[in-house]
Amino acid sequence: MPRKILVTSALPYANGSIHLGHLVEYIQTDIWVRFQNMQADTTCHYVCADDTHGTPIMLRAEKEGITPEQLIARVAQEHQADFKAFHVQFDNYGSTHSAETREFSETIYKRLRGAGLIEKRSIEQYYDPVKQMFLPDRFIKGECPKCGAKDQYGDNCEACGAAYAPTELKNPYSAVSGAKPELRDSDHYFFKLSDPRCQQFLRDWTTKGTLQPEAANKMQEWLGSGDENKLSDWDISRDAPYFGFKIPGTEDKYFYVWLDAPIGYMGSFKQLCNKQTPPSLPLSGEEPPTPSPDKGRAGEGLGFDDYWKQGSGAELYHFIGKDILYFHALFWPAMLENAGFRTPTKLFAHGFLTVNGEKMSKSRGTFITAKSYTDHIKNTEYLRYYYAAKLNGTMEDIDLNLEDFVAKVNSDLIGKYINIASRCAKFITEIFSGKLSDNRNWYPRLAIQPNTEDDIFQKLTTQAPFIVEYYENRQYGKAVSAIMHMANMANVFLDFRKPWVLAKNIEDSEIREELHHVCTIGINVFRLLTIYLAPILPNLSSRVARELFGMERDFVWGDIKAFSQQISPYQHLMTRLDPKLIEAMVADNQETLQPTPQAHSQQRHAAHQQHEAKKEVALAEKDFEPFISIDDFMKIDLRVAKIVNAEHVEGAEKLLKLTLDIGEEKPRTVFAGIKSAYDPEKLKGRMTVMVANLAPRKMKFGLSEGMVLAASGDAPGLFILSPDDGAQPGMRVK
Ligand code: MSP
Ligand code: ZN
Repeated sequence: MPRKILVTSALPYANGSIHLGHLVEYIQTDIWVRFQNMQADTTCHYVCADDTHGTPIMLRAEKEGITPEQLIARVAQEHQADFKAFHVQFDNYGSTHSAETREFSETIYKRLRGAGLIEKRSIEQYYDPVKQMFLPDRFIKGECPKCGAKDQYGDNCEACGAAYAPTELKNPYSAVSGAKPELRDSDHYFFKLSDPRCQQFLRDWTTKGTLQPEAANKMQEWLGSGDENKLSDWDISRDAPYFGFKIPGTEDKYFYVWLDAPIGYMGSFKQLCNKQTPPSLPLSGEEPPTPSPDKGRAGEGLGFDDYWKQGSGAELYHFIGKDILYFHALFWPAMLENAGFRTPTKLFAHGFLTVNGEKMSKSRGTFITAKSYTDHIKNTEYLRYYYAAKLNGTMEDIDLNLEDFVAKVNSDLIGKYINIASRCAKFITEIFSGKLSDNRNWYPRLAIQPNTEDDIFQKLTTQAPFIVEYYENRQYGKAVSAIMHMANMANVFLDFRKPWVLAKNIEDSEIREELHHVCTIGINVFRLLTIYLAPILPNLSSRVARELFGMERDFVWGDIKAFSQQISPYQHLMTRLDPKLIEAMVADNQETLQPTPQAHSQQRHAAHQQHEAKKEVALAEKDFEPFISIDDFMKIDLRVAKIVNAEHVEGAEKLLKLTLDIGEEKPRTVFAGIKSAYDPEKLKGRMTVMVANLAPRKMKFGLSEGMVLAASGDAPGLFILSPDDGAQPGMRVK
């Protein structure tokens, strides 16, 4: 069955720049979409838009002395330039401030109202008498009701972490005008999420495989179980002045930004449909626009209903950050379901980006915008590669370690992958005028057995189904390690066959043929790995297809089977990443001045996310991978160790300091948390097992150079391992 897929990324707010955190999401989504579109029989559309409504955008425009429309038009340009630079390729990039999104918002609202799910209620809220507007929580400040800290926001205290309602703040003031806010009554419209129909539906929807396990657990927490009704009605209106869509049938009420934001997915897709299928009945007799040829088969339009009507067979996926799960897993499906549209097939939530292990920070220079990255580093495929190497389809946070970034790009991407091409291509061009060998069964000169290494190309093509599965499940990290493992094999093959030595003796026709053969294998492996990497490195792979292999199109997955016959002269493909560029970028982003109010709110936001992140990690730690490969296991260097000394550590509650002999020149020092279970004297002279290749860790008491293993369960007790008699220090455990 051909697959029809619609994919979205969350709509970025139109009042800020795209930064490296955002890009975790957009790059991740783009890789998935490109992978899908490389498959025969799959059509995958990718839409997004700017999220343009709400008070912050209105006030920001006012401060800049422009209209909100002018602000969002400018930001739309910036955002789209950033996405383009990172090769994030949308089929349509719209705006929530569009006729299409307005129309769907009104339709959905009216249908919900028709179903009896909208209720008008009067609520009491802070009003700024100077600015003459109701104040969102973020725009009210005052003293924390718990600890008395000054200048805290209306929702929670940064000093003590307490959460509260803005009406609980002491001495509140408006962050917009400084005026003392007044409590005023106003009518608001609510979406009745507490209605049993919504509860019932959401209990079902959130547990039928639409969410990752961690996300589904979280939803159960929010939904409660049994008769308990934990969902409250959702306030979907805001009072004028507000930048947004007016609610039909009212004079001064607007849809809350989060009501029309996800509807922006529909609006943007509708625009794509309009681009591809002109309306059949032109409204006023004008010429219908010609459909744009950018995607889809010629002459075949894209039908909105095929994707959005209830019961549609098309697949719908939303990529989102874990911070906006609530909106996407509760409000959004409940709205769609009750307004008669289809609901998402799945939500793919991801974690947050940290840089060098910490939240992005302006003072450390790690709050890096997309623009700043391209200004300094230019090649955006380095970052695409690094993120891919780190992504695993879960909600865990991912860390951009800047040193590791340089190392991975240079050693893997350039040192392993590009290296294959640069080692082989020049001989093919110079000695064989670009023609590849058609002898695929070469036996080496000196070997008696046929050299099985020569099957390397064949062998690597058999990995395709695994790579497909990794991409499909968004386990890009696994795809990248598998591909780099293959690149390693190719380099071992080349190290063994030494084309650069063969090239010196080509008067001998047999050596000449061997050189031809070896380089042909190398080039074809490079081609294969390029196809495997194409979703991650779209620009590079396109150049390889066109410049090196003379194709007139980009690679598709089906190309893996072909063995190439001819190449054009090799052109330099990728430069090493110079660590100085990273230093310069960080220095450039470093803010030495007092933090700006914006930085302040970013930090607050980040602190909140880190808090959430910790909770997530606690959940994630319980998950075991069902299987690892033998290669994964072999990465762990387990050694038999003799405990030559064991002693208490002053000031440490849980640790013992162990000195371990693993047959190396100098014994290792390891701090082990086994004090509760062992008397150090009794450990001396015993044999145990340690992890010998764990990165050394600097601890308060000194450097720990490995880890000893111990068993524990729910019952008290801790038990270190012992090898059987006869094992010698340094023996490998495998
Ligand atoms: N406008 C809303 C989304 C509306 S979707 C109908 C929004 N915008 S945002 O600009 O704040 O974030 C856009 C996406 O980027 C979100 O999915 C968010 O989780 C993600 N990220 C923003 N900062 C991030 C990191 N530091 N790390 C990873 N993802 C991050 O939310
Ligand atoms: Zn407080």
